[in-house]
Amino acid sequence: MSAALVTGGAGFLGSHLCDRLLGRGDSVLCVDNFFTGSQRNIEHLEQHPRFDLLRHDVTLPLHIETERIFNLACPASPVHYQRDPVQTTRTCVLGAINMLDLALQQGARILQASTSEVYGDPDVHPQPESYWGRVNPIGIRSCYDEGKRCAETLFFDYHRQHRLEIKVMRIFNTYGPRMQPDDGRVVSNFIVQALRGEPISIYGDGQQTRSFCYVDDLVEGMLRLMDAEAGIIGPVNVGNPAEFSMLELAEKVLRLTGSRSTLDFKPLPGDDPKQRQPDISLAGSALDWAPRVSLEDGLVETIGYFRRLLAT
Ligand SMILES: NC(=O)c1ccc[n+]([C@@H]2O[C@H](COP(=O)([O-])OP(=O)(O)OC[C@H]3O[C@@H](n4cnc5c(N)ncnc54)[C@H](O)[C@@H]3O)[C@@H](O)[C@H]2O)c1
Repeated sequence: MSAALVTGGAGFLGSHLCDRLLGRGDSVLCVDNFFTGSQRNIEHLEQHPRFDLLRHDVTLPLHIETERIFNLACPASPVHYQRDPVQTTRTCVLGAINMLDLALQQGARILQASTSEVYGDPDVHPQPESYWGRVNPIGIRSCYDEGKRCAETLFFDYHRQHRLEIKVMRIFNTYGPRMQPDDGRVVSNFIVQALRGEPISIYGDGQQTRSFCYVDDLVEGMLRLMDAEAGIIGPVNVGNPAEFSMLELAEKVLRLTGSRSTLDFKPLPGDDPKQRQPDISLAGSALDWAPRVSLEDGLVETIGYFRRLLAT
């Protein structure tokens, strides 16, 4: 049994990670300031004998005992991280420093939930980990993109300077139950609009593509990276390379929900990448990981979740 700290544990990915860690016998301390996280995501865990919750902001130092730190705290969707961009950069950078200091003090291993956004609007496709990215440093997404890039730098400097055991995971678009209905992310947006019978918002001409990873696959990749031998530090891309255009996604959601919603074409927001697809060969060779859940199966689960949520 291992004592894990999950920052951002009341969020979408963090709450699924807490479930998996508890399920395999670990004890979990979930640290969250509930900026985008929700009590609903973790209420089923509150009575669990190996689960604890600490309401805390990672921009402030933390002193607790732990063996493994999963650093997920950070709003992930543009509507949330652009609401207070200075706080977003603070969370990325100060949050990383505080968690790295804690890891150092505790002799703990630490994993950073980084993002495909470090590649910006890529001119290499699909993106391997060796690609340095094409990021606008002063745009409306920069608080997140550059914050996450700086966090990666900090992880590697703590590793080089202090020999800290680090793991850096670059997460590509992930979806599943417990996403928020109003977070503006494409999968939740389409599903909620379809279930409500509202027009589906397509930005641009809908030909831009994305790849979507189901949350169970993502969490499996995260655990494999954390548990991998110390020499495997990353960065490692984890995502599903199957690529779909926004129009294809909308068509699938309409079919699986049985909705008659129409399509509503809107202008593209600033710095929206046209294409994003992970090269996951490193995750395959280093972690023996590959996604297993098809978009169709994952959408069925996610639609079921939103149906129940909207009915309450
Ligand atoms: N979901 C994705 O597709 C995706 C893709 C790439 C990277 N990621 C990364 O994975 C992590 C989790 O993403 P998510 O989709 O679960 O997002 P989320 O918004 O659902 O979860 C983030 C959690 O962090 C908490 N948080 C935010 N700022 C905090 C702070 N200063 N102190 C303490 N807690 C704080 C929030 O309350 C929330 O519970 C993030 O770091 C995100 O950047 C997610």
